[in-house]
Amino acid sequence: MKNQAPVATLSQDQLKTLVGVAALAYVVPGEIIGVGTGSTVNKFIEALASMRDDIKGAVSSSLASTERLQALGIPVFDSNEVDELAVYIDGADEIDARGYMIKGGGAALTREKIVAAQSRRFVCIADESKLVPSLGRYPLPVEVIPMAARRISQQFAELGGQARVRMVGGQPLLTDNGQILLDVTGLDIVDPLAFETLVSQWPGVVTVGVFAHQKAQVCLLGTTSGVRTLAFDDGSLKT
Ligand code: A5P
Repeated sequence: MKNQAPVATLSQDQLKTLVGVAALAYVVPGEIIGVGTGSTVNKFIEALASMRDDIKGAVSSSLASTERLQALGIPVFDSNEVDELAVYIDGADEIDARGYMIKGGGAALTREKIVAAQSRRFVCIADESKLVPSLGRYPLPVEVIPMAARRISQQFAELGGQARVRMVGGQPLLTDNGQILLDVTGLDIVDPLAFETLVSQWPGVVTVGVFAHQKAQVCLLGTTSGVRTLAFDDGSLKT
């Protein structure tokens, strides 16, 4: 029997570090960059300290990321002070082979979609567990106005979904925007563009966590054999 080379097993945390560091290659010197939210982005923010003097600053998608950026001495701009961002770097809860994503596990989906919309390019950083054949296994976060929660839950039920208010310490979790979140299970999102368009029109929906109109152009995927770069510029996956 042949001896097999040992396969290095990287933890999920190490995979996040790997893609966080790899994302530095997409930072445009001299520019203000968009920075997302979450444990993978936290690795990117740590790595960004080495480029602190090369960028003008950042627009951040959450109070949590703002604090981390400022602690490193990186200036944080209000999104209204900036016309367009060259690049937005953020994680995902799920990403498919077209660059469509589910986001909002960290409750920051509304600001994430706003910053993504003002960026020319979305670079998603994720470990390989996030790549899925079809969106919907991860409970879909939806930020809603509290008085509409019941009706929106009924609308999801008509699509086969079960909506639950996200709770923390026995109380509904409040987002950075002072609203609440529904997490919806049981959905199979075969047409993310149409789904996002539909749900976004329901009264009381602030933001649905499907990112199809603001999809990723690139995904840096952390795998045990290194960083895989997936490019979706024309809607198809190229590796
Ligand atoms: C934050 O609201 C989310 O959209 C995050 O980008 C997403 O949940 C990924 O987070 P992790 O990098 O912590 O998995």
